[in-house]
Amino acid sequence: MNVALTAQPHAPEALYRLFRSAMEPHVVVARGEPWNDERERAQFFEQLAAASVQLIVVKDQVVGFVDLRAFDDHSVVHTMVVAPQWQSSGIGSAVLEQLKTKWNRISLSVLKANPRARRFYARAGFRETGSTEHHYQMAWVSNPSLSMRQYQEGDEAAVVGVWHRSGRARYTFLPTWQEFSLDMARKIFREVIMPRCDIWVGVQDDRIVAYLAMNGSQIARMYVDPSEWRRGWGSRLLELAKKLSPGGLELYTHQQNASARAFYEKHGFVVIRFGISPPPECAPDVEYRWRSA
Ligand SMILES: CC(C)(COP(=O)(O)OP(=O)(O)OC[C@H]1O[C@@H](n2cnc3c(N)ncnc32)[C@H](O)[C@@H]1OP(=O)(O)O)[C@@H](O)C(=O)NCCC(=O)NCCS
Repeated sequence: MNVALTAQPHAPEALYRLFRSAMEPHVVVARGEPWNDERERAQFFEQLAAASVQLIVVKDQVVGFVDLRAFDDHSVVHTMVVAPQWQSSGIGSAVLEQLKTKWNRISLSVLKANPRARRFYARAGFRETGSTEHHYQMAWVSNPSLSMRQYQEGDEAAVVGVWHRSGRARYTFLPTWQEFSLDMARKIFREVIMPRCDIWVGVQDDRIVAYLAMNGSQIARMYVDPSEWRRGWGSRLLELAKKLSPGGLELYTHQQNASARAFYEKHGFVVIRFGISPPPECAPDVEYRWRSA
């Protein structure tokens, strides 16, 4: 989905309507009383910095806005709203990714009464820096020590190590994986994965912590070191996979791999069929597919 940020002129009243549509349920909880239009409107216009507003545009439609205050070395997201009917479709993440390319530090406040937004920012790498009665303060700081690159000679031991640790930690329900030795993993990596796949690695402070193996549009392997689970590596690799194969992606995972299934489904993958993995494993598996919107 193409998400654009534009500084084009905008009607303040339209911004207020967007703000209200997205914020009313959370403000009502935070204040413990119904929406007081007069008060909220007055506060909104008092705080709005019209010159720092950028509209979020998708398919020529304004779907939200960001009021981003710029300082010398950092920026503050004063307000960011995506209209309810456009939420949960990756627009907010796309906006943050664009802002991250321009700033080394971005901070914001999120209502305590809005746990979804708090999770959303946490997933995007924002960390809590403080709190007030009704808000958590959060900040994201760019991390030049985090990168993704193509597999290079000399990466084998690290990649096989990540794969082996991650698989054994996740597949406690698969006897074949629990018996799978590091030597066997190295052999399969050399003889099966390397010759067939393009391999990418995620690197943190010079340490390989995740890898992705692509066979055409097939995600053949995607593994994150257990110590790094739920820190955004899977999402970063999946974004990369979508760029490498923009027309679509396919993959297999185990039916019992609930966390991987939740992860793929959150990223727009749908189940194509249920089956059984090839011998010697012979475990219930599931094929997933993602197609660009
Ligand atoms: C599946 C895997 C690649 C995801 O990578 P990751 O870096 O942990 O994922 P991200 O941090 O980008 O995304 C995390 C999101 O995935 C989902 N998810 C991940 N683990 C989950 C769990 N145990 N329970 C529920 N949801 C989970 C959630 O939506 C989560 O978002 P949240 O933390 O905000 O709730 C990784 O956990 C992994 O290596 N697992 C073991 C190997 C594996 O199963 N690979 C897939 C084989 S097909």
